Amino acid sequence: MKVVGIGGSLAAQSSSLAALKIALEGAAEGGASTELFDVRALALPMYSPEVKIKDVPESVRRLCDRVHEAAGLLWASPLYHGTISGSFKNALDWLQLLSDRKPAFLTDKVVGLISTAGGTQGLQAVNTMEFVVRALRGWAVPLVIPIPQAWRVFDQEGLHDEGVAAQLKALGREVTRAAKQFASKVLTTPDAERAEAQVQPITEKEATSSES
Ligand SMILES: Cc1cc2nc3c(=O)[nH]c(=O)nc-3n(C[C@H](O)[C@H](O)[C@H](O)COP(=O)(O)O)c2cc1C
Repeated sequence: MKVVGIGGSLAAQSSSLAALKIALEGAAEGGASTELFDVRALALPMYSPEVKIKDVPESVRRLCDRVHEAAGLLWASPLYHGTISGSFKNALDWLQLLSDRKPAFLTDKVVGLISTAGGTQGLQAVNTMEFVVRALRGWAVPLVIPIPQAWRVFDQEGLHDEGVAAQLKALGREVTRAAKQFASKVLTTPDAERAEAQVQPITEKEATSSES
């Protein structure tokens, strides 16, 4: 059972990255093997739909392969201008390369959502992430951790609030628990998959085949 974390910002000291690391510890406590993809370390070029397979960076190939293998995911983005950051969204845009995997995108994967914000709300970023989870055919767990006024609880050493740390670990454990349940049984049946491709044709191939 693998849980992959994607998140952080381009800041050298990132509260969303620190939060993600703690949630991954929770996933490990729940029995998952974990891997972290730090958006800053990935240093991804901007996704282009015209990218040729031969030009896909090695970091993107690894990200897509590990995400495809994983049963659970943890995502963490800072709140930027009321939504997720551009660099985090760009990492998610690269998951378009999972369109021709079997099953496609995030089918039957469980996702836990985290955001950090400077102001008093963080939920907009979580809500935006949930739209992406659904578009990519994944399942978001009901527990979400938006961390408002992150500057109050994160400093140079990381998180110094045990309550928030406990919530993040609980999310990691919850993703692992739910991912184990999902993995024990195929949930997305072929007819549901076909219907999904028809209502949400997000690849050229699906758009064409849904018309036949
Ligand atoms: C470009 C930019 C836009 C931001 N927009 C918001 C915002 O709309 N609402 C908010 O509460 N905080 C906003 N913030 C503050 C960040 O959400 C906050 O500092 C967060 O903890 C940064 O996460 P990071 O440390 O992982 O980079 C913004 C910060 C930046 C740099």
